[in-house]
Amino acid sequence: MNAIAVYDGVDEPVVTEQPRPEPTPGEALVRTLRVGVDGTDHEVIASEHGDTPAGEDHLVLGHEAVGVIEDPNDTPFEVGDVVVPTVRRPPNGANGYFARGEPDMAPGGEYHERGIVGAHGFMSEYFTSPAEFLVEVPPELAEWGFLVEPVSIAEKAIEHAYASRSAFHWDPESALVLGNGSLGLLTVATLDEAFDRIYCLGRRERPDPTIDVIESLGATYVNSNETPIPDVPEAYEPMDLVFEATGHAPHAFETIEALAPNGVGALLGVPGDWEFKIDGGRLHREFVLHNKALVGSVNSGHGHFESAIESLSEFSEAFLDDLVTGVHGLDDFEAAFADDDTTIKTAVEFAAYEER
Ligand code: NAP
Ligand code: BGC
Ligand code: ZN
Repeated sequence: MNAIAVYDGVDEPVVTEQPRPEPTPGEALVRTLRVGVDGTDHEVIASEHGDTPAGEDHLVLGHEAVGVIEDPNDTPFEVGDVVVPTVRRPPNGANGYFARGEPDMAPGGEYHERGIVGAHGFMSEYFTSPAEFLVEVPPELAEWGFLVEPVSIAEKAIEHAYASRSAFHWDPESALVLGNGSLGLLTVATLDEAFDRIYCLGRRERPDPTIDVIESLGATYVNSNETPIPDVPEAYEPMDLVFEATGHAPHAFETIEALAPNGVGALLGVPGDWEFKIDGGRLHREFVLHNKALVGSVNSGHGHFESAIESLSEFSEAFLDDLVTGVHGLDDFEAAFADDDTTIKTAVEFAAYEER
């Protein structure tokens, strides 16, 4: 079968022939429909993040998949069910994090991430997965199901941000999303119902398709060239929640300055090592005197996938059409990995969905 992989020492994905996987007991065989591409895939391709499976010279890409059950293989699924796989797998059988249903809280060494760290991904015509790592999706979401995983990332971070404020009465009204990439825009859409005022920060000038998406969601675009993050409270308002999705390391610390008293910042970007100067005393003081919090968040679990399916089903078709700028077959899969200002969210399509 065809798969899209990145080989060690080569910084671009290629189509490669792989054996079609056979499900072992407890696993189902899934026929892949679509697999999304995000900033992490670009980091993996550039060897800035992730790892090839041990003893192999390539990694099959893809962690944002949707497919249909081809062979349930005695699992609870039926042929034709639409499913989305979760990303993490236990490297050596189970461990406590997986046993508790909290693989997203596992530390390094206690997980593989399919398509990212130590395990092949889903960018192939078929993949197998233990049934416990497959989440059923309503058939009407088959086309957009590749967005469940990235939305689940936002769901987890928002849950952890709220949890950090659960010791007192917190009634947030304003939210600032840092980053107008696919995660940032999906987060603006996910936060939509819960916040009165939502802002999204980027460094693009108009006209720009991501700014159009931000505004069509009723949010306000903040241009970081005109308004650096520490100036946001003065220029707009102090933010109850900041959600960082740029991977720009200085933003982690600038977030503290954008927060309102009692506010929380969720950090999601994955930068490389990066030394720069900060006024540590000032930031330390801000945390303490204004009861501020920062939480880091990575990956997501089954429950976050369920919440993501609910959120996704409420997104408007117009938003999804504007967000997904390309769905590409194997004949032009390279276009799914384009990294330019007209590309927002893309996917590779392996098969079209057909209702059974
Ligand atoms: P992406 O598509 O590359 O988006 C990043 C966005 O941030 C881009 O729109 C970029 O703007 C913007 N940006 C970068 N530096 C900026 C700056 N200095 N000022 C203003 N805007 C800036 O990536 P993504 O898929 O949305 O993911 C975003 C980040 O989250 C990445 O670091 C990724 O690794 C991480 N991530 C983490 C998790 C997790 O579980 N924690 C999950 C998914 C992704 P331009 O396009 O104009 O350059
Ligand atoms: C994926 C997560 C993963 C994270 C770190 C993200 O792009 O969506 O599932 O945990 O990268 O590798
Ligand atoms: Zn991702």
